[in-house]
Amino acid sequence: QGGCKMQEITRSVVQGLLPRRDADTNKGSFGSVLAVAGSMAYRGAASLCVEGALRGGAGLVYLAAIEPVLQLVLTRTPECCPCGCRTDNGGGIRAQDTAALREWFADKNTVLLAGPGLGEGAGAICGGLLGKRAPWVAAVLDADALNALAAGTLRGPLPEHTILTPHPGEAARLLHTTVGEVQADREQAVRQLAEEYHCVAVLKGNGTLIAAPGEPVWRNTTGNAGLARGGSGDILAGLMAGILAAGWRQGRSALEAAMMAVWLHGAAADHCAERRSMTAMLPQDLFEDLGAVLTGLE
Ligand code: APR
Ligand code: MG
Repeated sequence: QGGCKMQEITRSVVQGLLPRRDADTNKGSFGSVLAVAGSMAYRGAASLCVEGALRGGAGLVYLAAIEPVLQLVLTRTPECCPCGCRTDNGGGIRAQDTAALREWFADKNTVLLAGPGLGEGAGAICGGLLGKRAPWVAAVLDADALNALAAGTLRGPLPEHTILTPHPGEAARLLHTTVGEVQADREQAVRQLAEEYHCVAVLKGNGTLIAAPGEPVWRNTTGNAGLARGGSGDILAGLMAGILAAGWRQGRSALEAAMMAVWLHGAAADHCAERRSMTAMLPQDLFEDLGAVLTGLE
């Protein structure tokens, strides 16, 4: 559309970008992710994004959440490092706890992943985590963090190297327009998101598009309608943060991490659909298929 050329994210593009896992490395070589996710109402979102970040290759994945969320996540992925937060009594985490998190993560080469399942308090929590002298090398903002940004309870400017991952509904809220308008010209919408928010924008859905200011738009070639269910997006956000952390020391950019994550997530879904069908496949199944896809690329 618009006569502008879009570039395709293909297997060979991704293969050329994947962070190496050299023999002489340790967990510090692959950075860390702090996930700030989950609330009483959405406990599973935290679990899916934490596992996504771990499977994406991060050296360490921390989760800041209330105790019931930590309990669930640690049962499923004991590799996760818990940062206990007090509850705001609405089922989310206390925004005041974010100051301590910022301090603790100073100089730790950490990618922030915020939003999945955070709920109503997302604006105050993300506001406490971002802003001046935030310690994060990069950030992935998804779900309720995007809703807070759209509603104005989270204010810009966003830090450098921030990725936003809206589905069409979230994109419409961010652009103060309708889903119909976004879907009618997805390329224009993703460009506008990148320009207005000075970020890497990932417009999800069939044929996910990725834009960064001044860059050509990239279009993904993988994925299928088996992904059209709750939880798929939480995995993508986690995977993106994990890949970003793992590739940071090797010079991979936020744009490149977004491209890799979107392609791998879709390729895992295509592999999964073959063994489980688009109807019966679940987001949590994708981790098995991600392994199969990556063994073919490493
Ligand atoms: N074809 C290809 N990919 C698809 C398709 C499709 N038809 N449908 C969805 N996907 C992919 C998207 O590209 C994206 O990567 O699946 C993922 C869906 O992400 P989200 O829409 O963010 O879904 P998710 O966040 O997991 O849904 C859970 O969404 O609206 C909220 O609160 C609601 O809890 C719910 C949450
Ligand atoms: Mg989502």
